[in-house]
Amino acid sequence: MDTLVIRNPELLAAALRGLSLPQKRMEPKWFYDAQGSALFERITDLPEYYPTRTEIGILTAEVDRLAAHVPEGAELVELGSGASVKTRLLLDHLTGLSAYVPVDISAEFLARTAGRLSATYPDLPIHPVVADFTLPLTLADEGHPRVAFFPGSTIGNLDRDGALALMRSVRRWPGVESFIVGIDLIKDEATLVRAYDDAAGVTAAFNLNLLHRMNREIGADFEPDRFAHLARWNAEDARIEMHLVSREDQTVRIAGRLFRFAAGETIHTENSHKFSRGSFAAMGREAGWNLRDFLTDREEKFGIAVLGRD
Ligand code: SAH
Ligand code: AVI
Repeated sequence: MDTLVIRNPELLAAALRGLSLPQKRMEPKWFYDAQGSALFERITDLPEYYPTRTEIGILTAEVDRLAAHVPEGAELVELGSGASVKTRLLLDHLTGLSAYVPVDISAEFLARTAGRLSATYPDLPIHPVVADFTLPLTLADEGHPRVAFFPGSTIGNLDRDGALALMRSVRRWPGVESFIVGIDLIKDEATLVRAYDDAAGVTAAFNLNLLHRMNREIGADFEPDRFAHLARWNAEDARIEMHLVSREDQTVRIAGRLFRFAAGETIHTENSHKFSRGSFAAMGREAGWNLRDFLTDREEKFGIAVLGRD
């Protein structure tokens, strides 16, 4: 008899819960093991995935305007820092930061990124934190100002209540003065869907990695080839949804429990909400933040909101 090895009890609990719902679902945070983080980095280079290069373009063009919102001696805390590629643009321009605190759930990837950053910025204290930003993050009062940075439109992967809870929790951080948030803007459906269903199939591999991860970490017996990647625009909720569609009737075993999938049934794996300047400002206001500045590219594909506590 095979011994079942549960390497990740938290993922097991999430899978047993999420796959028992009438609409099966998993939270997108489970995409990001080492393989998932590497696949996301490949997504950022895809011709169809405009958000990363557009946001980098805005950051590059407007770095001085953003720097004006970062007080001398501030600690920069980044949520979902990933490879910290965008942060480097800021770190190159912001002299006088007291520290950089990258926060990410992908532990190995974060450690590697922090190591590389320390080599480039030897005089900047870097304090990586492995944490789930959907839970309140408590930071000590260290007597210096703080600026929160949340690029990538990762805030769009939360539902409205989750985004509001996160914004309220950041607002309670000791010393926090501003919150710089990247948001993907609503645009034509074809552009949006292409960005999440690329020709090379990298986004499909990113989505399907969730099944491989459940096989690796909780001994599930998914056959990923029997599932297909689906990205669709939900206009009513202004979001791209990603699903994994069962190609046929099948049963999957996880820790002795059986999960039946009818042909065409899906696991909803991600929402990626899109915003307008107005819809985002309204959400910020509800969480106690005011829109101080809003930067965008010429075609208004992507926005960077600067929120203030005042
Ligand atoms: N900031 C980068 C990476 C965005 S990808 C960019 O803009 O390109 C999203 C990042 O958020 C990944 O690095 C992922 O590991 C992290 N992440 C996703 N959900 C998370 C959660 N619940 N808590 C902490 N980090 C999370
Ligand atoms: C991290 N996040 C903002 C990405 C997005 O666009 O929602 C994740 C992603 N999913 C598929 N492609 C990229």
